Amino acid sequence: MSQSAAPRSTWSNRWAFILVTIGSSVGLGNIWKFPYMAGSQGGSAFVLVYLVCVLLIGLPLLMAEISIGRRGKGNPVAAMLNVAGETGNTSWWGLLGWVGMLGALLILSFYSVVSGWIVDYLFKALTGFQVATPEAAQQSFAALLGNPYQLALWHSIFMAFIVGVVARGVVSGIEIANKVLMPCLFLILVLLTLWGWVAGDMSAAWHFMFDFKFSAITPTVVLAALGHAFFSLSLGMGAIMAYGSYLDKNTSIANTSLWVAAAGTLVGILAGLAIFSLTFQYGLQPGSGAGLILQTLPLAFFHMPGGNLFAVFFFLLVLFAAWTSAISLLEPFVSWLTERLSIHRPTAAWSTGLAVWLLGLASCLSFNEWNHYRFFGLNLFDALDYLTSRIMMPLSGLTIAIFVGWAMGRAAVADELRLKSRAFTLWFNVLRYIVPVGISLVFLSSILGWVE
Ligand code: PFF
Repeated sequence: MSQSAAPRSTWSNRWAFILVTIGSSVGLGNIWKFPYMAGSQGGSAFVLVYLVCVLLIGLPLLMAEISIGRRGKGNPVAAMLNVAGETGNTSWWGLLGWVGMLGALLILSFYSVVSGWIVDYLFKALTGFQVATPEAAQQSFAALLGNPYQLALWHSIFMAFIVGVVARGVVSGIEIANKVLMPCLFLILVLLTLWGWVAGDMSAAWHFMFDFKFSAITPTVVLAALGHAFFSLSLGMGAIMAYGSYLDKNTSIANTSLWVAAAGTLVGILAGLAIFSLTFQYGLQPGSGAGLILQTLPLAFFHMPGGNLFAVFFFLLVLFAAWTSAISLLEPFVSWLTERLSIHRPTAAWSTGLAVWLLGLASCLSFNEWNHYRFFGLNLFDALDYLTSRIMMPLSGLTIAIFVGWAMGRAAVADELRLKSRAFTLWFNVLRYIVPVGISLVFLSSILGWVE
């Protein structure tokens, strides 16, 4: 049974789709998380395993998710129902769309809070704020987390920017925003990498990221890299499915997916090189974890010539990346409201944004006033992160692999992908066997606490 009869928007061309999908994929995950995870998980070992995971698991799944979106031509729930109906499967598969859409909203609620930290640091950089010692850097971050009003302010501003774009529509909002922000992002990234080369110790950064020491590959590193490949490609949350649903029939899904995976990886690597070249130049610790860009890097900014300007560009870069990803987290549910309940897009976007904003406020409070409310020992912010990244995303990704690999039927999948027969067989088998096994490993490892 088809759910969406209204005419749907279509991206202006194949490059628009590539750009928005790269926009969704390249986010805090690539610029904030990738470098600090590489820094704390054995450097090059993590990078190598991450690349393999992107190729073996991320890429096949990306293609599968886009295929469902395009064939189903609807919001994630409608797309799943349409494809399941067409291929003679039960409508229970529609639940997968729900898990994705709701998961995306949950992620957005705290993603926006972290993006708010970046806005705060951008303002700090603009006003010439500097930290000279590790203690000062730590204190300034702790002061931010301890102040719910400040967190809420930046979170509110960030959310307004997200909703403002999504409310304008698929082509005149999302596509235009990405067409402006993504080229700026690439330009800033190249500039910062070159700057890091001149002002920092690029050779140490290079060795740290690319001298592959096979002995450093441990199960923890493998699982962390696999989980991260997943998050950084925006898989399993309906975002890619929603974007895929606006893709025209003639564009090659395999080709565009390759571009997206390659660009996301390249951004992570360049950001890592820029960050580590400064980290090493000033004798700082690459393995400082989540505080790498907010606590370690500001110390480098303090010491380097022109550090303040570098900081402004750097936080702008992170902000643009976060912005385009957050947009893709809001779109799936908004598209459902507009298509299923015929709600006017701006109303749908602002009301969904309001609900997400409220939940985000609770995350802001979870660092201070509400820190004593615990869910399995975690504050709300960490609990939401755990629930989405470690449970909902892998489960949803696994279900997509099973649906496309085992339920949809080879003929329908082949018709959507239009690959040469050998390439298709290779991809299909990877999706049927390697992807489910890989994801199950990540999932079990998170649940059983094998990795931190
Ligand atoms: N890929 C984004 C990042 O790396 O920051 C995060 C993300 C966006 C996850 C959209 C999931 C999603 F649906």
